[in-house]
Amino acid sequence: MKSIDVCVSPDLMHLYPVDGKSVVVVDILRATSSMVTAFAHGVKSIYPVAKLDDCRAMKSKGYLIAGEREGEKVADFDLGNSPFEYMAPELRGKQIALTTTNGTQAIAKSLGATEIIIGAFLNLSAVADHLINSNNDILVVCAGWKGKVNLEDTVFAGALVDKLSGKFTPACDAPLAAKHLYTSAKTDLIGFLNESSHVKRLNKLNIHDDMKFCCTIDEYRVVPVLVNGHLAVKD
Ligand code: MLT
Repeated sequence: MKSIDVCVSPDLMHLYPVDGKSVVVVDILRATSSMVTAFAHGVKSIYPVAKLDDCRAMKSKGYLIAGEREGEKVADFDLGNSPFEYMAPELRGKQIALTTTNGTQAIAKSLGATEIIIGAFLNLSAVADHLINSNNDILVVCAGWKGKVNLEDTVFAGALVDKLSGKFTPACDAPLAAKHLYTSAKTDLIGFLNESSHVKRLNKLNIHDDMKFCCTIDEYRVVPVLVNGHLAVKD
């Protein structure tokens, strides 16, 4: 049986070889939730970049530029990182360059994997189905916050381990721990995550609705995949 593993912080990536694996990058609040929402609403591609200046440079190449630092929209950018911004009809067919504090950094650290896909509660079942079809060993890479572990990404990892149990075997204790966390969280996900450090950060910015939306399970069926540096969904 193929295995599933969970890296709870990008700073631990040196312990988890990505070669030969399907990597699921997750940043529930909010990068990967916004990406999934963007594709569900018709965005053509997202170019994830780690640095602000590299993102800004894409403007002259016809991209919309998007992203946040410390949760706040970058002043001269077209878009921030709220999933609600990515529902706008005028974004259909557009190419977006995106940089975020943790999510796009986690993607950069996953390069070299057999495939990199984007996970969120919003597309949980679609991600699980995709992984069953791919049938590679799986590594869930939690974006965390500046190298620290966070609740929401680890709970998502546990939800995925739970969904795939019987089909993929846990590679070590991290997937088991994540699954136990999800078991504690699942009856009241929003209440459970209210304690998380990033929810407190988002509440200060008055964007509590973003958090509630990002906790919606299976709102969309899209599975963004990284191909040649760009995220896209298959037609
Ligand atoms: C990140 O990449 O750290 C974020 O998605 C932060 C945020 O926009 O809330």
